[in-house]
Amino acid sequence: MDDRSLLIDASDIRTLLRRIGPDALMDDLTTRLERAIRQYDPATAQVPARTGLQYESPEWGLLEWMPAHFGEQGTTSKLVAYHPANPVGYGMPSIVSTISMFDTRSGHLLALMDGTLLTAMRTGAASAVASRVLALPESRTLGVIGCGTQAVTQVHGLSRVFEIGKVIVYDVRDEVAATFAERTAFLDSPVTSVGRNSLGDLLARADILCTCTSVAPGAGPVCPEFEGKPHLHVNAVGSDFPGKLELPAAVLRRSLVCPDFREQAIVEGECQQLEQAAIGPDLVTLVQNADSYARSRSSPTVFDSTGWALEDHVVAVMVFEYARELGLGRSITLECLPADPLDPYSLLASPALAAALRPASASEITSAGSPRGTTERSDPAR
Ligand SMILES: NC(=O)c1ccc[n+]([C@@H]2O[C@H](COP(=O)([O-])OP(=O)(O)OC[C@H]3O[C@@H](n4cnc5c(N)ncnc54)[C@H](O)[C@@H]3O)[C@@H](O)[C@H]2O)c1
Repeated sequence: MDDRSLLIDASDIRTLLRRIGPDALMDDLTTRLERAIRQYDPATAQVPARTGLQYESPEWGLLEWMPAHFGEQGTTSKLVAYHPANPVGYGMPSIVSTISMFDTRSGHLLALMDGTLLTAMRTGAASAVASRVLALPESRTLGVIGCGTQAVTQVHGLSRVFEIGKVIVYDVRDEVAATFAERTAFLDSPVTSVGRNSLGDLLARADILCTCTSVAPGAGPVCPEFEGKPHLHVNAVGSDFPGKLELPAAVLRRSLVCPDFREQAIVEGECQQLEQAAIGPDLVTLVQNADSYARSRSSPTVFDSTGWALEDHVVAVMVFEYARELGLGRSITLECLPADPLDPYSLLASPALAAALRPASASEITSAGSPRGTTERSDPAR
């Protein structure tokens, strides 16, 4: 049995983006996600609500795990940290993450990869899938509240399935809204950023609205009660923790509210604000019955996106397949799998492993910083 794991690091993801291109990757991901949701059968899959821990110091943060098991088709688990002070305090994204893929028969780690860009892309793809069912196909004006990482991939994902002619954005931090046009320059849509005084105008003009703020628990909603267009579709992305809410309750009450994953959304999403009976169909029901929900496009709808582990599974499998096809990543022997599975110290008897585990001398450190023999670059030409 192959005891190696494929490490797909940031440089591999960058190579993947360069070779395939962000548009083609987003299109492939949206197609795969829609197919996975259409085929989703809870009798053969296990995708529990995420769990984890929250802490107040040294910074307010969360660490959560999001496992998903699809029988023979594989098992993945995302570990995700949310630290909303990161962009200002540490120059890092608010969401940092890795995804692990496992051999379902043995539990052996097949691959370990970045989950940071992948989370942003799959969240954009999820809004694209939901909006394709719930928003008017002729939607042209996109409103965005909260202009950080997720906002970029929300606009990207939606621009691949709608002909977005205008994007109007607002962020509580003017300097973040001001750089949004630059960060989405790879898209054709013209971007206008507005201040708090013009938030009402943004809300009145949007055909589709994405809320993707890092509002703190208890500090929402992020906009006042508003009327909006009769067909307004909202992708509510930032409500993903108890007490963390972006939309006024009145907006939810007059809309068809569709959670990505009901069990999770009633605890963490906008659905916290609704009685059980007022919650609409979940994403699986929507996608599996898309034709019957098309009539909802002319009335207000909300996709309550809390982030579902199925989405992480789909993006991880996609990246793993591309990595194998393009020769990206490097094989590492990460787990101690000894010659005698019943004797952990028999590791010392395996010559290859013993050499690999021997402390490296300075002369043995390669320019890549890896002790010789422990890694194998499958794409040395990068
Ligand atoms: N649904 C999902 O699957 C999913 C996935 C990833 C992240 N998220 C959530 O999406 C949100 C955004 O994540 P991100 O990675 O883009 O974070 P980010 O820090 O990059 O951006 C968030 C932005 O929201 C702005 N903001 C905060 N409060 C605001 C307010 N009241 N009004 C307007 N703007 C406000 C901040 O200034 C910041 O620029 C977070 O709450 C995160 O937990 C959800």
